[in-house]
Amino acid sequence: MFHVSVDTTRCQGHARCLAFAPAVFDFDDEGYAFVPEDKADHAQLTDDIRMAVANCPERAIIVNDDAHAATAS
Ligand code: F3S
Repeated sequence: MFHVSVDTTRCQGHARCLAFAPAVFDFDDEGYAFVPEDKADHAQLTDDIRMAVANCPERAIIVNDDAHAATAS
């Protein structure tokens, strides 16, 4: 399971994530991205999420792979 989130300390509101993956990302009232809890977990890392990650200029999008994390610890 992949968990997608935004590092709010890095996000500068470039909105590339919303352009590439509007089904996953949302914006708060100040124009910064976040991932609603009900959209954070994904069985597959789909192309729209990969594109969002690759195109964020601040590298603010975090993807945690639970399976990988479990084997790494
Ligand atoms: Fe923020 Fe990056 Fe999206 S800076 S608004 S997470 S493209």
